Amino acid sequence: MVQVAPSLLSANFARLAEEIQRVEALADLLHVDIMDGHFVPNITMGPMIVEAIRKTSELPLDVHMMVEEPDRYLSEFRQAGADMMSVHVETCPHLERTIDQIHQLGALAGVALNPATPVELLVDIFDEVDYVLVMSVNPGFGGQAFWPRAAEKIRRVKAMRGDRDRPLIEVDGGINETTVRVVREAGVDIVVAGSYVFQAADPGERVKILRGG
Ligand code: DX5
Ligand code: ZN
Repeated sequence: MVQVAPSLLSANFARLAEEIQRVEALADLLHVDIMDGHFVPNITMGPMIVEAIRKTSELPLDVHMMVEEPDRYLSEFRQAGADMMSVHVETCPHLERTIDQIHQLGALAGVALNPATPVELLVDIFDEVDYVLVMSVNPGFGGQAFWPRAAEKIRRVKAMRGDRDRPLIEVDGGINETTVRVVREAGVDIVVAGSYVFQAADPGERVKILRGG
């Protein structure tokens, strides 16, 4: 069964604690999108908000760093409560060092790939990565349409993994009750969903649908 990570990007930020409460018992992780207005056009939140979220939830925090020079901020986000942190390969010229830094901080290390970035770029570092985040939209905004080639990309990560069950494969962007079937079939381990979960009357029900049970 897949794990479900609701993305708080589509939650009501003025009522974050209540929004988290609506999925707390049903979700596996909370996905937190950090955007800097440089790597992506949008600006979201920093470590202070992550710290506030940490105090409100028992769920592991899956922090998605859509920022330039993520190395500068990893320690702060870890201290704020991140349990797993993904960096974009497009922002990391010294990816091996960055992954090592995340591990030194005691968090799980993920590598995120924009739609146009091939998974094969990870071939020499694959064994050091805890999870690969396949973007199924160009990052920056919630509510965009699913990029269909992401399913094939998930299959390619799975093929690289062979008979191992690591790195985990996470998908993010445009996930709803239709597209989740496609990525589940491709072998994804973690699905992220923002608008589909939080723009619903009953977010918890949506989490259940995504899990397929
Ligand atoms: C987009 C973010 C996603 C976003 C997904 O750049 O990384 O996590 O919240 O939103 P939906 O599920 O609405 O596509
Ligand atoms: Zn994300």
